Amino acid sequence: MSLRLAPPELPLGGDATGGVVRVGDTVRRPVRPSTPSVHALLRHLEAATFDRAPRVLGVDERGREILTYVDGIVPARPLPAYAISDDSLAELARLLRRFHDAAASFTPSEGAVWEDGSAPDGEPELIGHCDVTPQNVVFRAAPGGGPVPYALIDFGMARPTTRLYDVVTTLRHWAPIADPLDRDPLQRALDAGPRLRIFCDAYGLTARDRLRLLATARTRFDRSYAVMRRKARTEGGGWARLWADGAGQRIRRGAAWLDANEDALHAHLI
Ligand SMILES: Nc1ncnc2c1ncn2[C@@H]1O[C@H](COP(=O)(O)OP(=O)(O)OP(=O)(O)O)[C@@H](O)[C@H]1O
Ligand SMILES: [Mg+2]
Repeated sequence: MSLRLAPPELPLGGDATGGVVRVGDTVRRPVRPSTPSVHALLRHLEAATFDRAPRVLGVDERGREILTYVDGIVPARPLPAYAISDDSLAELARLLRRFHDAAASFTPSEGAVWEDGSAPDGEPELIGHCDVTPQNVVFRAAPGGGPVPYALIDFGMARPTTRLYDVVTTLRHWAPIADPLDRDPLQRALDAGPRLRIFCDAYGLTARDRLRLLATARTRFDRSYAVMRRKARTEGGGWARLWADGAGQRIRRGAAWLDANEDALHAHLI
């Protein structure tokens, strides 16, 4: 008789959810009201042959979702040079574009529940990721080169949105559209304007969306502030910790930095 030991549970950290662990080549995460909707999205991505996201394997005996572990590296803070390179930015844009193209053919079920978050005006175009931070991207070495974005993980914030709104959220973290005070050390020397263009070119963003990009970023700052403040009050937990840690102040500083630099940034989008 062979004795099979259960693989150990290795904590993976994370921000708001808590309790994310790796078990063998799977990840276990606590379920949320939005989990069935997110699973439907991930299954659609798999069927659409978008293989740059975790696959859903089910729910375990403790009621946690089971996802595939995506091999590679997730950059830790302080961010390493490879995570902020122009090559990584362009690769990330191509990855987001592929995800959007696959997600655009997904129709959520009637009454699908999504995590609450800021949203653009008008009709949503697709279910976006809505949380493409460096901690939610797995990198892998490019052939003969350094690590570049390979897959998106952590679809916990996925919800109806537009391509542009999801692009803006991504650029907030990666251009970044942020006050230098709040940037990671290596990001302080980055010139965000040319990086907006690198991202938009690699994504293939339309001229119309480029013209609206910075106005959308301003709208998003205002709405994110209101939503995060509300979630900190009503949900507590990780949201309250984020807020107490100055998330609101960072949004306000980001908005002020955008106001001060908008014309210079816009010149790179026309
Ligand atoms: N499927 C996966 N493959 C590889 N690594 C993963 C995977 N899921 C999570 N991780 C690692 O665990 C960390 C935390 O996981 P995750 O991002 O899902 O949780 P979280 O940020 O706490 O979630 P949320 O933002 O929904 O509160 C990630 O930053 C990543 O390093
Ligand atoms: Mg995460």
